[in-house]
Amino acid sequence: MRKIAAITGGGQGIGRAIAMAFAQEGYGISIADIDREAGLETVDLLRPYTDDAMFVELDVSKEDEVRDWIERTATDLDGIDVLVNNAGIFQIADVLELSAEQFQRVLSVNLSGAFLCSQAAARMMKKNGRGGSIINMASTRAFMSEPNTEAYSASKGGIAALTHAMAVSLGGYDIRVNSISPGWIEVREWQLSSRKELPVHSETDRNQHPVGRVGKPEDIAAACLYLSSEKAGFITGQNLTIDGGMTIKMIYAED
Ligand SMILES: NC(=O)c1ccc[n+]([C@@H]2O[C@H](COP(=O)([O-])OP(=O)(O)OC[C@H]3O[C@@H](n4cnc5c(N)ncnc54)[C@H](O)[C@@H]3O)[C@@H](O)[C@H]2O)c1
Repeated sequence: MRKIAAITGGGQGIGRAIAMAFAQEGYGISIADIDREAGLETVDLLRPYTDDAMFVELDVSKEDEVRDWIERTATDLDGIDVLVNNAGIFQIADVLELSAEQFQRVLSVNLSGAFLCSQAAARMMKKNGRGGSIINMASTRAFMSEPNTEAYSASKGGIAALTHAMAVSLGGYDIRVNSISPGWIEVREWQLSSRKELPVHSETDRNQHPVGRVGKPEDIAAACLYLSSEKAGFITGQNLTIDGGMTIKMIYAED
């Protein structure tokens, strides 16, 4: 039976690459994104691989919009087998100036959004009775930081904890829940066509990665496919860091 993958933030960047990879594997695709133009453009890009691709404009932090998306997906495409909680916003703001509202917005999109989508999808997966896989996009910033990234880091640390909590709660419904922590992934070529840019990386950019290059959205998409497959049937509640080794490289500052 053809499987269905639902991907938040699938309009651009890593989410667009994930949608392409699942479509190429024969999945039906449902994309949710706050950017209508980007979401519709991704659906067009999927056409060579599948006729079963849909887009719904929504904000993942809005419970009613999330519930409608999951219901429409299950009705129009026949169930949901995979959910990738990929939508996210980044923020750098002076920790002494950051308002409660600014902090909360990042938590609402990056963390509450993943919870709301997971809860709605898990209810549908339980109803369909064919199990499922949920993948949450965390970040290496869940475990290390630059200055003034409190809201983003907290949201991604929350994702790591949400992942093991939901993996334990949903195991009985044959639903596995894992997270991926990307490092530096170059997404400029994967934006809406009018915003695309050709990336340029310096030797220093490449050399801070033991594999000798910056990451690509395809690196993350391949891991999503693996974690959703039966080959990963004994993996749940885990976080997979995909960063070309950037975070295991010891750095001594030079004068
Ligand atoms: N690119 C990286 O280096 C990197 C590193 C670590 C983690 N991540 C994570 O990977 C995910 C994707 O990042 P990206 O670099 O591809 O970002 P991106 O900005 O290129 O794409 C994010 C997509 O999410 C959508 N989105 C934003 N807010 C939304 C909302 N409230 N509701 C629905 N859709 C919304 C955007 O419209 C966009 O299409 C994010 O969760 C990000 O935190 C990225």
